[in-house]
Amino acid sequence: MTVNVYETDRALSEYLLFHYGEASDVLPFDFGPRDAVGFPARCVNVCLDTSLLPAKARALDLGCAVGRASFELARYCTEVVGIDYSQHFIRAAAQLKKMGRLGFDRIDEGLLTSRCVAEVAPDIDRMRVHFEVGDAMRLRSTLGNFDVVLAANLLCRVEEPLKLVLKFPELVRPGGQLVITTPCTWTREFTPSANWLGGYERDGRRFDTFETLNKFLASDFTLLRTRDLPFLLREHARKYQWCVAQASVWQRK
Ligand SMILES: C[S@@+](CC[C@H](N)C(=O)[O-])C[C@H]1O[C@@H](n2cnc3c(N)ncnc32)[C@H](O)[C@@H]1O
Repeated sequence: MTVNVYETDRALSEYLLFHYGEASDVLPFDFGPRDAVGFPARCVNVCLDTSLLPAKARALDLGCAVGRASFELARYCTEVVGIDYSQHFIRAAAQLKKMGRLGFDRIDEGLLTSRCVAEVAPDIDRMRVHFEVGDAMRLRSTLGNFDVVLAANLLCRVEEPLKLVLKFPELVRPGGQLVITTPCTWTREFTPSANWLGGYERDGRRFDTFETLNKFLASDFTLLRTRDLPFLLREHARKYQWCVAQASVWQRK
């Protein structure tokens, strides 16, 4: 039986630190890419044009993991739905909603850990956020549509990313914003290579992810901006994944 990596205690610890850790919690050194910390908050605060939102905006955070971006969306939207496939992650996100904080063990080295606390900023109205376990490829029919849809680092983790991309026009209201970020890490572990949106060559031509997104989104969306968003996932005190997600923000026509 294959284990879903997002259902493990290790992934939960890594993602709680990734979402809620301050630079001093993530990096024990006085050097390193501090500007890569706080990625989920930047997906919202750097990408979204809040001036385009209605007074009572609805947001969807697809593949929300442990929920930091969902809480950030609640600064600007009166209703936020966070959906993730991982029961482990959603349980933690729901606990953060209820209590505002959650203790966890950060991995330092081997079996050595140190105690940390994930905290939601006190100025965020946590009651605006609702978390649920769900499959982005089979969303419930009662979900409705949204003024903001965020899909952060989800595309290259699903089996049929194009099916998801083709669902976006239905999910985003006219005038609403779609924020997609992806490190374009296409692997057969998550996505059969025939379904990759980029990172392959065919008939002597190289295909990249942004080009494919543009091809399938341009008829329903206007591209507002693109950004390169670095992020840092700590595995232990001396091992990190430093990545740069490509963010694109689209407005529904
Ligand atoms: C690379 S993580 C990104 C998490 C979060 N958006 C972030 O930026 O930190 C991918 C997330 O998508 C979730 N996921 C993967 N496949 C999914 C699916 N079919 N439906 C919903 N969530 C899924 C995983 O459980 C994981 O939380």
